Amino acid sequence: MAADPIISLPIISLRGVTKIYGEGPTAFQALKGVDLDIQQGDFVAVMGPSGSGKSTTMNILGCLDVPSGGTYLFKGHHVETLDRDQRALLRRRYLGFVFQGFNLLSRTTALENVELPLLYRGEDKKLRYEMGMAALDKVGLKDWWDHTPAELSGGQQQRVAIARAIVTQPDVLVADEPTGNLDSQRSIEIMELLTDLNRNSGITVLMVTHEPDMAAYARTIVHFRDGLVESIEAGVTA
Ligand SMILES: Nc1ncnc2c1ncn2[C@@H]1O[C@H](COP(=O)(O)OP(=O)(O)OP(=O)(O)O)[C@@H](O)[C@H]1O
Ligand SMILES: [Mg+2]
Repeated sequence: MAADPIISLPIISLRGVTKIYGEGPTAFQALKGVDLDIQQGDFVAVMGPSGSGKSTTMNILGCLDVPSGGTYLFKGHHVETLDRDQRALLRRRYLGFVFQGFNLLSRTTALENVELPLLYRGEDKKLRYEMGMAALDKVGLKDWWDHTPAELSGGQQQRVAIARAIVTQPDVLVADEPTGNLDSQRSIEIMELLTDLNRNSGITVLMVTHEPDMAAYARTIVHFRDGLVESIEAGVTA
């Protein structure tokens, strides 16, 4: 059967994306023309040497930063033409972001951390509670809702960070080295959680990792080198 041209449109499409940090003699070109298509429902591992532009690209995809040049299409819409407020709306509506090192608020409970994106979106208390608890349940931490990050293990903190990223029911989850601070058993649990979210909640997952064991969970592996996509290969689960 012929592919439907609309359904097969990538959810994310980068063309010739460049990023220059700084100005003048100290300017540094971190991205040199990245071309990348991400299909809806894919589980993508992004690999490559330190400094090759992985986080820079994820920050652009996650609407946390803007490219210096090139085009970024999200669901066919030109993101590079949006202003700051429009980008923030797109991020809150469609994207979830998990940072390396969790970035949780230390004096607030797991539930309050998870509810935060809903607070930014102006949702009322009851809905925030229901969606927050549902997200904590999804990551297996419903019973830990009133614990602060200091009272949770590294793996649990990372699961809270994932719950916070998925509480808005995003189409795309961007995770920059989500297992970077975890031991191998906790890392496997996080990868199983991401796989479950990808398969059973239909979330497109983009994950940066240095570890081949973690990339093995992905369906597609993208290799970066020197600010460019060097190669794309099918993962072992493809
Ligand atoms: N805010 C910034 N200002 C100046 N240069 C930056 C900035 N952020 C990143 N860079 C530079 O851009 C290049 C790409 O950085 P990036 O963080 O994308 O690399 P990475 O592939 O994620 O590396 P790692 O695996 O170490 O996380 C690096 O040389 C880095 O020093
Ligand atoms: Mg990085």
